Amino acid sequence: MGRLEGKVAIVTGAGRVGNIGVAVARAFLREGAKAVVGTDFRREQAAEIEALVRADGSPGSFVLMEQDVTSEADWARVAEATVADFGQIDVLVNNAGLSIHGGIAQTSLDDLRKVMAVNHDALFLGIKACAPHLASAVERFGGGGSIINNLSMASYMPNATNIGYHVSKAAGRMLTICAALEYGPQKIRVNSIHPGVTMTPILREGLADYVAQGMWESTEAAEAALAAMNPLGVASEPEDTAHAFVYLASDEARFVTGASMYHDGAIGLRY
Ligand SMILES: NC(=O)c1ccc[n+]([C@@H]2O[C@H](COP(=O)([O-])OP(=O)(O)OC[C@H]3O[C@@H](n4cnc5c(N)ncnc54)[C@H](O)[C@@H]3O)[C@@H](O)[C@H]2O)c1
Repeated sequence: MGRLEGKVAIVTGAGRVGNIGVAVARAFLREGAKAVVGTDFRREQAAEIEALVRADGSPGSFVLMEQDVTSEADWARVAEATVADFGQIDVLVNNAGLSIHGGIAQTSLDDLRKVMAVNHDALFLGIKACAPHLASAVERFGGGGSIINNLSMASYMPNATNIGYHVSKAAGRMLTICAALEYGPQKIRVNSIHPGVTMTPILREGLADYVAQGMWESTEAAEAALAAMNPLGVASEPEDTAHAFVYLASDEARFVTGASMYHDGAIGLRY
């Protein structure tokens, strides 16, 4: 029996091959989830993603719905469609994220608001829309419902050149612990995962920009340098990170709420 047998999960930011959302969707289905509703504002890779998340022969359902996570109306639509199609919501993974580089001097108020909207406001909207449904998970599974916010070590580590990302990820942490207190009596657990360096396409694209600026000779050299920053000497793959989500989504974590799970290879201890 899988660790998520019979559960229905919403995973935002699952619209890009190779990213963390897709790895989480695949891991949830492999662990017996009844259905995973992936969402993203991009759907052009939907067919490829569907094949990927089903690659383990999992019998559960998968759909990739179009959603702008900053839209309250979209959240209502996604929550209602999930309940209509699959009968329940047991797990919400707020994973969609956005980074617009720059310190205060280089960042416009508009860009700051865009980043806050995706990395903070969307978590608030997702919890608000899904919590009334998650509350009934306790009747199906002893462990109740689970909300997992994918934050970052940026929640804890200051960075003068990426103000919006770090401030929004820090705000996401406070939202997580406030929500853990608010929803605990309904047996809904709210936790955050804080990845460190995770080799996703967007990270590799960022490295390519740095290579173009002459910071490193090649993307291989950049990847090796990032890996070496971790005490373990390697970076995380999205599939490694997905295991942490499985644990917090499962009833094994039924006494875990308000927790910050670092999934950072201890890079946070160094910087
Ligand atoms: N890759 C890393 O090293 C790393 C480290 C720490 C934290 N994280 C966090 O992990 C999460 C996933 O990141 P990833 O590396 O897989 O990158 P990614 O960019 O591939 O994933 C983010 C997804 O969110 C989607 N998205 C962005 N804005 C949206 C919106 N308004 N509505 C709907 N979807 C939207 C994007 O289309 C994308 O598919 C993010 O929250 C990121 O901050 C990543």
